[in-house]
Amino acid sequence: MRKSLFTIPLLILLTLPILSLSKQVCNKDDEKVLFKIKQSFGNPYHLASWQKTLDCCQWYNVECDLNTSRIIALTIFQGNISGQIPNAVGDLPFLQTLVLRKLTNLTGTIPSAITKLTRLTMLRLSWTNLTGPVPSFLSQLKNLNFLDLSFNDLTGSIPPELASLTNLGAIHLDRNKLTGVIPDSFGSFKGSTPDLYLSHNQLTGTIPKSLGYLNFTVIDFSRNQLTRDISMFFGPNKTIQIADFSRNSFEFNMSDVAFPASLTSLDVNHNKIFGNLPQSLTGLSFQFLNVSYNRLCGQIPQGGNLQDFTSNEYFHNRCLCGSPLPACT
Ligand SMILES: *[C@@H]1O[C@H](CO)[C@@H](O)[C@H](O)[C@H]1NC(C)=O
Ligand SMILES: *[C@@H]1O[C@H](CO)[C@@H](O)[C@H](O)[C@H]1NC(C)=O
Ligand SMILES: *[C@@H]1O[C@H](CO)[C@@H](O)[C@H](O)[C@H]1NC(C)=O
Ligand SMILES: *[C@@H]1O[C@H](CO)[C@@H](O)[C@H](O)[C@H]1NC(C)=O
Ligand SMILES: *[C@@H]1O[C@H](CO)[C@@H](O)[C@H](O)[C@H]1NC(C)=O
Ligand SMILES: *[C@@H]1O[C@H](CO)[C@@H](O)[C@H](O)[C@H]1NC(C)=O
Ligand SMILES: *[C@@H]1O[C@H](CO)[C@@H](O)[C@H](O)[C@H]1NC(C)=O
Ligand SMILES: *[C@@H]1O[C@H](CO)[C@@H](O)[C@H](O)[C@H]1NC(C)=O
Repeated sequence: MRKSLFTIPLLILLTLPILSLSKQVCNKDDEKVLFKIKQSFGNPYHLASWQKTLDCCQWYNVECDLNTSRIIALTIFQGNISGQIPNAVGDLPFLQTLVLRKLTNLTGTIPSAITKLTRLTMLRLSWTNLTGPVPSFLSQLKNLNFLDLSFNDLTGSIPPELASLTNLGAIHLDRNKLTGVIPDSFGSFKGSTPDLYLSHNQLTGTIPKSLGYLNFTVIDFSRNQLTRDISMFFGPNKTIQIADFSRNSFEFNMSDVAFPASLTSLDVNHNKIFGNLPQSLTGLSFQFLNVSYNRLCGQIPQGGNLQDFTSNEYFHNRCLCGSPLPACT
């Protein structure tokens, strides 16, 4: 008797986690906020699963924490969503992931209400028609490790304050209409050094020397109007792997640059780089190399995998010669 009394509650206890998975009770405050968001988007078909008769943890485009049933992710991708990002988004206090992606009718600016989302680790607002600046208030999202604002119509300059984010793994600001310089502060990221994607903007000026103090892994500054030197990213002790500086106005002597062994992809096509290709390039393992459309001279070093590339990766230089280009005379 005593035994069975004991085993029944034990059975219930054991099956409870399974039951609670299928009968999650959505937080009422979160549900209310999600309805507000749905309404401000004009109750679109894309959010048809957001309805009273379903527990909000079962809705599409959201994710609940299994223990607390609080909304931790809001991900709207490629839907017929029109309007602006509603301020209500800031009222999902447990949100860790906010993704609004490939929504070409999403317009307006990035609302400051987002700064209330202190648990946010991923913010991805990309392939939308957002306008206005990259807000400096994003630096208040201290837990952010992935920031993607690419493929929008953002204008203005890059806020130096972003460098105060200590957990950033990557910053994507590419494919906007950003102007101004790359901030000096980007040489003083504390903690992790993020991959920097700033391509397809209208950035000008020189690269701050301070960026040479850090070990970047991926840099994409292609298709801007940046000038002068990029050699601060290189050197024997650096760890850069992928570097795209193509289609800018970089102008420096490449002869004495020591490219690190970590470098596997280097694209500098369409710049004003002069001097020779250093002999040490033969010691690297390039998967991609493109130095075309510059002002380089002299013999292409023979060896390593430098001859694995075609003449297209070397042509249109001042007097570069040797395989795969025609022999030097
Ligand atoms: C849920 O709580 C358990 C026990 O406290 C913990 O081990 C687990 O990591 C939590 N799961 C989530 C998704 O937070
Ligand atoms: C964007 O809005 C316009 C005008 O309402 C509409 O014709 C178009 O289908 C919408 N596109 C998408 C992808 O939502
Ligand atoms: C998007 O929604 C608008 C208004 O609801 C509608 O007129 C349009 O046809 C839709 N576009 C697509 C691509 O579904
Ligand atoms: C959104 O952006 C696309 C591509 O840049 C453009 O063709 C379209 O007109 C824009 N729509 C709005 C509503 O601004
Ligand atoms: C960069 O990485 C190299 C190799 O791991 C290391 O020796 C060097 O101290 C690092 N430099 C900085 C500024 O972290
Ligand atoms: C690179 O690292 C080596 C060994 O850690 C050190 O001796 C050397 O001074 C460093 N060189 C530079 C340019 O920092
Ligand atoms: C580039 O640097 C090399 C080595 O320091 C030097 O010999 C050469 O004259 C320089 N080239 C130009 C065009 O200044
Ligand atoms: C290198 O750049 C040139 C000039 O933009 C281009 O024609 C060529 O296709 C590029 N090579 C590769 C492999 O991308």
